[in-house]
Amino acid sequence: MTSVEPPFKSKMTIYVVSCWILAAFGGLMFGYDIGISGGVTAMDDFLIKFFPKVHERKLHAKENNYCKYDDQLLQLFTSSLYLAALVASFGASKACTLFGRKPTILVASIFFMAGAAFSAAAEHRWMLIIGRILFGIGVGFGNEAVPLFLSEVAPVQHRGAVNILFQLFVTIGILIANLVNYGASMLHPYGWRVSLGLAGTPALVLFFGSMVITESPASLVERGRDDAGRTALQKIRGVDDVDAEYVQIKEACEQAKLIKHPFQKLMKRSSMPPLIIGILMQVFQQFTGINAIMFYAPVLFQTVGFKSNASLLSAVITGTVNVLSTFVSIYGVDKTGRRKLLLQASVQMFICQTTIGAILLVHLKTTGTLDQGLAAVVVVLVCLYVMCFAWSWGPLGWLIPSETFPIETRTAGFAFAVSSNMLFTFLIAQAFLSMLCHMRAFIFFFFSAWILAMGLFVIFLLPETKGVPIDVMTERVWKQHPVWKKFMGDEDEKRSREMA
Ligand code: BGC
Repeated sequence: MTSVEPPFKSKMTIYVVSCWILAAFGGLMFGYDIGISGGVTAMDDFLIKFFPKVHERKLHAKENNYCKYDDQLLQLFTSSLYLAALVASFGASKACTLFGRKPTILVASIFFMAGAAFSAAAEHRWMLIIGRILFGIGVGFGNEAVPLFLSEVAPVQHRGAVNILFQLFVTIGILIANLVNYGASMLHPYGWRVSLGLAGTPALVLFFGSMVITESPASLVERGRDDAGRTALQKIRGVDDVDAEYVQIKEACEQAKLIKHPFQKLMKRSSMPPLIIGILMQVFQQFTGINAIMFYAPVLFQTVGFKSNASLLSAVITGTVNVLSTFVSIYGVDKTGRRKLLLQASVQMFICQTTIGAILLVHLKTTGTLDQGLAAVVVVLVCLYVMCFAWSWGPLGWLIPSETFPIETRTAGFAFAVSSNMLFTFLIAQAFLSMLCHMRAFIFFFFSAWILAMGLFVIFLLPETKGVPIDVMTERVWKQHPVWKKFMGDEDEKRSREMA
């Protein structure tokens, strides 16, 4: 381990900040897709053209407060993107290791643009499905490469904030998509084409951006391009003297060269701590119930009395709260640290979810609406809930797995985190409406129970990674933690290196 101490020298130049922002457009692609899909499949023009039977059933479906109109097949079509992304993230991990983060980001943008073109021009269902798969591959590649890239190029003292630009752009993407959908739903009969086609815009920015940004120095050194790695480091630090940091990256890459098979190494005992944490951060992120809440928000807003504008209003209100609260995280994550944000949020989210559950259990019957005053309380609680998700499990679900793996297993390990996100987003999207119909208000207690488990997880198992250089995590974090150090014995480490 190197004896050099951070913070290393760095200057914030226009080029450095441009690299961060351009790469973060990968988040905008992901967020736009999260925000756009549900709205498009709710548009009648879209259903009549591609799913006429579903449209027919929708017209005759009976709705009540808990059992909303629900079609598993249509939902499966929407979430097929996540399955494609799940598989693609492993291919993206290979691409990141062999070719670097920059070309992987370029490939992500090309797939996403192709997805937008296919979807917007679709005349047949198969074209739509190809569009979903292309979008999915784009998301898989982008979500693998962008958070890793941001964590690697950020100066250690600002790593959290820089990485959270990805989540900030996710939230902006969701907000824009909801606004676009609202406008497009009034353009008959082609509104859905506009919504899907506009997905190409962030991808186009990312496409050109990926040509402007520098490659991550760690990735260059890892692939034996030491001089290019040093030059890249000078560019992203904005200073010439980068020797101290370069030595640290070089040492980490030397260690990494001993590992021939990263996926096998990842299955060894000594790799379990970051792997378990990486996967759990993403699984827990989805079990906060965020996507269920975001989906359910329009129904709640309708009960307050905003009839025809409910979905626009709910999108604007929760979407804006989501974007603005992410800034709290950008500001606080490198000052207060990761653990405090997650713990504070777990408490606030637990209170919000249980209170919403209790109000609905007592006051919202199968039909009818909530009393205006109570409905307003529920809306405030939803906002308070989205607010703290946005400064905790949202951004940190991406940040922590991208900063805790050593370089030899970083891309492989992060692929497990990305694919866990995709898998659980898919499962929750698929199961939520049926769960709501059967569990009714109890679904909020279901998510509260998960939030309680998450709080305990943070207290006992999650180490603080604030201020620790990314290439010395094993020594400074995992080998010091009361639970995880038991996995990290030097002997064990040696053995696993020999075997890998
Ligand atoms: C999550 C998404 C979620 C979004 C909300 C992201 O970090 O991965 O599932 O919809 O945050 O802002």
